[in-house]
Amino acid sequence: MSEEREIALEARAVKASRMFSPSAARNRDPIREAFLALMPRQGTIVEIGSGTGEHAVHIAAAAPLLFWRPGDPDAASRASIAAWTAHLSLENVAAPHAVDASIAGWEAAFDEADGVVSINMIHIAPFEVAEGLIAGASRLLKPGGRLFLYGPFSRDGVHTSPSNAEFDAALRARDSRWGVRDLERDIAPLAESVGLSIVAVVAMPANNFSAAFQKAR
Ligand SMILES: C[S@@+](CC[C@H](N)C(=O)[O-])C[C@H]1O[C@@H](n2cnc3c(N)ncnc32)[C@H](O)[C@@H]1O
Repeated sequence: MSEEREIALEARAVKASRMFSPSAARNRDPIREAFLALMPRQGTIVEIGSGTGEHAVHIAAAAPLLFWRPGDPDAASRASIAAWTAHLSLENVAAPHAVDASIAGWEAAFDEADGVVSINMIHIAPFEVAEGLIAGASRLLKPGGRLFLYGPFSRDGVHTSPSNAEFDAALRARDSRWGVRDLERDIAPLAESVGLSIVAVVAMPANNFSAAFQKAR
């Protein structure tokens, strides 16, 4: 049975619990390539705000030495993650967790991780969520472990395109606590303050960026 549901600002088709995100379909290949270039190829990856789970299964299917721990506070998203994992018979993807990154101490739900990833999340959430994500990631990561963020970012106070400026305004109109984050002014200093140094920034299609941060060895 197929239906449609609005979540995280987009209409998603739903088929036997599996949700289909139009933006994930467009961006999943370049995100996977950036992830595989910047992140560990083996060990445990904790994903925060996995949404439909499509990025999780797309990357995990290509990297069998990774053990992927996807999750989302939204129950329908967790059902979708589990359904995608079962649909593709992936043995390196765990049952979804329900971590809310704004809750201090969320990282206690896991043992240490080689990587933490959050895709398209910190602009559609209050800034406290970015703060909680980055602080928890720093505590969870092994020495040398990496945090991977993907999404729209402004760079040193400047939007990288008119469409990102419009998107930022639309986000803030929807919820004044949301908004496109600034990589140099907001995120890198926050990461630095908890011992995560920015090691790579990759320009992605549609005015997005992938950014990798590393915990000292
Ligand atoms: C725009 S969706 C992106 C989903 C997926 N990563 C993708 O790129 O297709 C943002 C996701 O972040 C989740 N989210 C929002 N606030 C969160 C929080 N405080 N902690 C963890 N996840 C959160 C939402 O439930 C939603 O599934």
